[in-house]
Amino acid sequence: MSYEKEYQKSIQTPELFWQEKADQLDWFEPPSRILGSDENGIDRWFMDGVMNTCHMALDYHVEQGRGDQIAIHYDSPVTETKESICYKDLRDQVALFAGVLRKQGVKKGDRVLIYMPMIPQACIAMLACARLGAVHSVVFGGFAAHELAIRIEDATPDVIVSASCGIEVNRVIDYKALLDKAVELASHKIKHAIIWQRPESLANLIEGRDIDWQLALQTAQAADCVPVLSTDPLYILYTSGTTGRPKGVVRDNGSHAVAMKYSMKAIYNMDPGDVFWAASDVGWVVGHSYIVYAPLLQGLTTVLYEGKPIGTPDAGAFWRVCEEYGVKALFSAPTAFRAIKKADPESVCLKPYRLNKLETVFMAGERLDPATYHWVKDLLNVPVIDHWWQTETGWAICGNLMGIEAKEPKPGSSTLPSPGFNVKILDDEGNEVGPNVQGNVALKLPLPPSCLATIWGNHDRFKDGYLKTFEGYYTSGDGGYIDEEGYVFIMGRTDDIINVAGHRLSTGEMEEVIASHPDVAECAVIGVKCDIKGQKPLGLVLLKDGVNKNESQLESEIISNIRSEIGAVASFKEAKVVQRLPKTRSGKILRKLIRQIADGEEYNVPSTIDDPASLSEIESVLCAR
Ligand code: COA
Ligand code: AMP
Repeated sequence: MSYEKEYQKSIQTPELFWQEKADQLDWFEPPSRILGSDENGIDRWFMDGVMNTCHMALDYHVEQGRGDQIAIHYDSPVTETKESICYKDLRDQVALFAGVLRKQGVKKGDRVLIYMPMIPQACIAMLACARLGAVHSVVFGGFAAHELAIRIEDATPDVIVSASCGIEVNRVIDYKALLDKAVELASHKIKHAIIWQRPESLANLIEGRDIDWQLALQTAQAADCVPVLSTDPLYILYTSGTTGRPKGVVRDNGSHAVAMKYSMKAIYNMDPGDVFWAASDVGWVVGHSYIVYAPLLQGLTTVLYEGKPIGTPDAGAFWRVCEEYGVKALFSAPTAFRAIKKADPESVCLKPYRLNKLETVFMAGERLDPATYHWVKDLLNVPVIDHWWQTETGWAICGNLMGIEAKEPKPGSSTLPSPGFNVKILDDEGNEVGPNVQGNVALKLPLPPSCLATIWGNHDRFKDGYLKTFEGYYTSGDGGYIDEEGYVFIMGRTDDIINVAGHRLSTGEMEEVIASHPDVAECAVIGVKCDIKGQKPLGLVLLKDGVNKNESQLESEIISNIRSEIGAVASFKEAKVVQRLPKTRSGKILRKLIRQIADGEEYNVPSTIDDPASLSEIESVLCAR
């Protein structure tokens, strides 16, 4: 099949294109209105379609004779546990847990917050919500109680589903304690917490509020799939914005299912029965889309891995999993491969394994640097595909479509737009620029299925943040260029968001935490280069007049504040005291300039700088690191 033909069809006749893709799913009532507009004037797909995502992902396959096929291989080196669950058993477990949720009053449209480690129960909880038409909001385990509390307040769930603990390599993380603290901090009060007890650390349950998952199953009645409208929300996933408050990206049921199933073949070339492994976490969008929903919607076997690329037990972990389960496509972040390369530069840990089923490696979450690209390609001798994504879209905006037509890759580029994404580079005035000119990466409306149509509880934030800057376009927040052959190069965020180990973090949020320290007058957080994690945050701090504090004491207080307010995932390990911050005459901190200095890049001193002498101090502080 020709990529150009497929892509042009998606742009010229989007309704026809997506109707054909929608026809491949088992709707209760297939949509007749393919593209419409909602009460906010936002484009919406399949508006009158009636369906249930859990039905399409599980029941449908069981009905089609796929019941005995493995749906999930759970592999947990941190607990030395392995479990393989077939479609039929997964459907039954999901239906039963949906019965537990229903007994606690959960119904269509209700929000359920899920705070879980990488265990099958995380997937079961997500799918059980989908079964009831309830809206799940999964919170990544590396976030602190305060972050969890923000999400409880915003999503206002009556029920939270969690586990007694998570395991980080060899450290037991007391999820229940974090949950209790978050519930205490949040002004919205939940009615129930349903807790999966893990033997590594049993949680104390609060009588009247907490429910023991395993006990509740004993008296539960299986629940059927509840029909929902295509445009009813399936989930809310919070992601970092430029302010301290995360944004709740809302994902529709129907358009998500269509895009997920389509992408599984078009981008990843996966057919029913194949084994797919997204080495990510269910707390991130990659986990939602490619650990849970897309593989199941396509009838694949998905791998759920509770471990790290290194240290559980060694840098051969990825290779072992690929061999053991016959993984056909592996998807992870470049940072994972950089970690493997550092721990095992001679690839000794690869030697015992035969990866004869592995056809492709996909990477996303951050730019795939050419050095990592070449290292992985040479090591595994399979195509290595960079593809560009956002939580907001739920699937790759650009990639090399292995199921349609594999193009010659260009290191540093995420190749070509996925069908449905009309990618343009605009200058700051909104004019389209020519080939090889850097600008703002924008998507011409309508967005294809699965992209967000609002921010939970704050539609203005959606309009203002994404649609206002350039009329008729979605602003991605990324900068980049398109070359003369149409290849897209994503060069990094144009806002104050950084990518640390493939995790999206807001420097603004870190600045808010630092600024609340009693000794701090002003601060700036920037993302500086890191060999393994791509970027890592660095704080520059101005003390209040009269404060004479030991710098390393201050640094450790700030580090600990960020850890307890945002979480270990922020990887915040460095704060430096400075006397001045370089600013423009209007008082804006020149963050890009500071980053360039920290990264040893060449820079131009802007004519708008207020105090050029501030640069020499910043230079000496940053060079002394
Ligand atoms: N629960 C609790 N804590 C968690 C956590 C979780 N689910 N996930 C991470 N953390 C903690 C880590 O233990 C670490 O704590 P520490 O500072 O006390 O050591 C901190 O958060 C930072 O985690 P991380 O950035 O993952 O660093 P790491 O040093 O533990 O591991 C890598 C480094 C490269 C191995 C790891 O980041 C990785 O595998 N990355 C792959 C990226 C990925 O999956 N991205 C998703 C998009 S595809
Ligand atoms: P998230 O919403 O957490 O998936 O993060 C999305 C952001 O990660 C994007 O806006 C990009 O800045 C960055 N990103 C993701 N994938 C890539 C990629 N393949 N190349 C460059 N940047 C990427």
